[in-house]
Amino acid sequence: MIPETVTELKSHPLISRNLAILRDKHSSNSIFRDAVKKLSYFLFYESSRALKTTSISVETPLIETTGIQFNQHIWLCPICRAGLGMLEPGLDLFPDASVGMIGLYRDEETFEPQFYYEKLPASFSETDFCFLIDPMLATGGSIDASLALMIKRGAKNITLLTLISAPEGLKLLTHKYPDVRIVTTSIDERLNNNNYILPGLGDAGDRFFNT
Ligand code: PRP
Ligand code: URA
Repeated sequence: MIPETVTELKSHPLISRNLAILRDKHSSNSIFRDAVKKLSYFLFYESSRALKTTSISVETPLIETTGIQFNQHIWLCPICRAGLGMLEPGLDLFPDASVGMIGLYRDEETFEPQFYYEKLPASFSETDFCFLIDPMLATGGSIDASLALMIKRGAKNITLLTLISAPEGLKLLTHKYPDVRIVTTSIDERLNNNNYILPGLGDAGDRFFNT
């Protein structure tokens, strides 16, 4: 049973087609990058329904009408490296956003997150709308550590965007952070013995950056 705070988008044909491209080991790096970008637009589209807005008046060349403006400041917080692949679509849609970088990698023996860089604000404002972005939610360790840091810095309103999520990591995060919204393109089957997601797509950072 998926908690209410989790949204999975894979039933849409545009999403499932791009997921197929992303998973395919024959997809070149540029095709992989392109699918990451397209899927990220869909994630931002769906998750930004929760943004608070206010009504404004707009003059068309013909008449006065109404429109909206965002009422919250947007933070885009990618977990480097792989999360950087989802940043450009976010900046495209939210050109006034601030970017908070989180640099960490998962130790491949202990699976513990290892921080190597961080550039988040000393204190988020209460009304900030924060996107935490990382294509892969496997054990959940990397995102857990990142959420803990963001919450320590005062982030109140956090939406996590992921491309592929493992049920194991999702379970951890939904129990620990019931207020964090999670939007993912796919909840996959399970983790393998090396904590890689099955069916998954392999190593997201390596495929995106051609390493
Ligand atoms: C990947 C991915 C997540 C993490 C997920 O990054 O982008 O950050 O693994 O695994 P977890 O849920 O078990 O913590 P990785 O550590 O490979 O670093 P990279 O982005 O620099 O390649
Ligand atoms: N990180 C990845 O890039 N892929 C996985 O399947 C798990 C962690």
